[in-house]
Amino acid sequence: MSAVPCTGGGKVTVPEILSRKSSSPVGSTAKSKITCLTAYDYPTARLLDEAGVDILLVGDSLAMVVLGYDSTLPVTLDEVLMHVRAVRRGTRRALLVADMPYGSYHISLEESVRNAVRLVKEGGAEAVKVEGGERRIELIARLVEAEIPVMGHVGLTPQSVNAMGGFHVQGKTNDAARQVERDARAVEAAGAFAVVLESMPRELAARITEKLHIPTIGIGAGPDCDGQVLVFHDLVGLTIGHTPKFARKYADLGADISRAASEYCDDVRSGRFPSDAESYHSPAELREHLPARQRT
Ligand code: KIV
Repeated sequence: MSAVPCTGGGKVTVPEILSRKSSSPVGSTAKSKITCLTAYDYPTARLLDEAGVDILLVGDSLAMVVLGYDSTLPVTLDEVLMHVRAVRRGTRRALLVADMPYGSYHISLEESVRNAVRLVKEGGAEAVKVEGGERRIELIARLVEAEIPVMGHVGLTPQSVNAMGGFHVQGKTNDAARQVERDARAVEAAGAFAVVLESMPRELAARITEKLHIPTIGIGAGPDCDGQVLVFHDLVGLTIGHTPKFARKYADLGADISRAASEYCDDVRSGRFPSDAESYHSPAELREHLPARQRT
């Protein structure tokens, strides 16, 4: 049985996530791992929330898995905001984190804080996520000062796809590993309450997890992180095209949807749908005036 964490009313909060750090002295010794999934709409948020997922992330992966772009770069703050509102309506227990999309925190600190405030005030997000390590120190500190909890994100940062020359595993040389570690420490020092470690050797993620005092949430970073995150569409088999090797598929909804849609087409074309039981009927007194073949 999984251990579902409980705060007042079972709501997952930022302090509660911090207390789940594997080495944190708060509470019992065995800490249950933090679970996080992306969500982009109301029904999915409800289902994931009711299933006990701790953190729902409205990720900018929205751009790729929902909107069909080939990177996360095009999605706008207004688009993310619309999805955050939908997820907010479906979320009661989980902590709701909104990704700051590319361009929404790259111009000036003032504009970045204003954009993050919109995600909280208009969207109902309880925290925001920003990509990048050392170069986000000032930004993270300013957001925290504005009462906005921040989740960091280091290693493979998909918004850097052009600078990185593709989506590649990070931290594979000594120098690169040291940089990822510096980035994670910088994010913590700036005041983030958790950090996503994406696509890096498990040994590096384990070392960072051991050294940090905030929880690490891994994706393609091995099993030793304090929690795990996956993209919902990868989890349930709705991603079109390539999925990375760490993206375990727990369901094949893509195949189910294709089968359901083609069965529906067959049934409509052959007259098997809708049936009489799936039809509304006129009251008996009116039926008498109908042609015989419509009276049944
Ligand atoms: O946008 C996203 O889905 C993410 C997760 C992969 C962490 O940033």
